[in-house]
Amino acid sequence: MDEESAMVDGVGRTIDYLRISVTDKCNLRCQYCMPKEGIKLMPHEALLTLEEITRVCHILAEMGIKKIRITGGEPLVRKNIGKLIADIHAIPQIEDVAITTNGVLFAPMAEELHRAGLDRVNLSLDTRDGKNFAQITGKDELAAAEQAMESALEQGMTLKINCVPCRQLNDADVVAVAQLAKERPVDVRFIELMPIGCGASFDGIPSEEILRRLEAVFGEAEAVAERRGNGPAEYYSFEGFQGKIGFISPLSHKFCDRCNRVRLTAEGRLKLCLHYDHGIDLRELLRDETMDNEHIRERIIRAVAQKPEAHHFEGLDDKDADKRKMYQIGG
Ligand code: 5AD
Ligand code: SF4
Repeated sequence: MDEESAMVDGVGRTIDYLRISVTDKCNLRCQYCMPKEGIKLMPHEALLTLEEITRVCHILAEMGIKKIRITGGEPLVRKNIGKLIADIHAIPQIEDVAITTNGVLFAPMAEELHRAGLDRVNLSLDTRDGKNFAQITGKDELAAAEQAMESALEQGMTLKINCVPCRQLNDADVVAVAQLAKERPVDVRFIELMPIGCGASFDGIPSEEILRRLEAVFGEAEAVAERRGNGPAEYYSFEGFQGKIGFISPLSHKFCDRCNRVRLTAEGRLKLCLHYDHGIDLRELLRDETMDNEHIRERIIRAVAQKPEAHHFEGLDDKDADKRKMYQIGG
């Protein structure tokens, strides 16, 4: 397989980005994401081993994946994440390794992760108010999350803050979170709450409304014409800010037509769309001794051709929709 191979789906989208959920566990319980009780976690044998994950990365890198993001649950609760990142970073075709974390465990690991080759960190932060942080997440850990931010910057990593505005939880906190992009060299992105799992019981705040509120405080925003990376965010700049403000609007501005990603769930399903169950059980193939990488590659090519064209969160009774929760899919 030559090094320049590209993966293209059934409607012509180039797939070059893989998101890997390494665990369904989390050390927080954000109300819109994970129920406090009654969580059925995957048994450990159900999870792909780190070696199996690395093997999938090698196969997919040869097929055209160039960027990889590690997610969860909370990825840093899984042991040996530094080793996984180093192994993925060593794959020649992989240009960029990133992580999405709540930051609670990050600071003491920052140096190790940097050495392993971690380039970019997305930190989930829905409020800068300590009391409300504890209320939303179930744990009094705002200080640790803030420490994560400082450690990532100290290590010279590119840092983005992700905030999910929600009427019942952090309505009064969004301006303060946005302010981080003024105070520090970080982009702050607001993500529309998707009606997945517990998220369906809360009301997300549309991006337009957040933008209007920020303009009322910080003055007129200027839309950034060029895209930053390949991601789905639309960026704005505000006078006097060091970083940009971004909006990821899966509901109000569907971006499925530019989707460039597939997902690997912790139990080894290659998932083609956040919303749908379409995909293949790679774990079964990886653990079948009669399957070599070439066979697995053929199965992936066939699956990717079936990647859904768009999500339909607006039609909630969809029979094909994935019934899993966000912490089981990996955000
Ligand atoms: N909609 C949008 N984002 C969500 N997250 C968790 N659940 C949802 C949802 N229903 C986000 C978290 C975190 C990332 C892992 O996923 O806020 O930033
Ligand atoms: Fe954990 Fe992230 Fe879900 Fe919060 S949003 S419970 S930090 S996985």
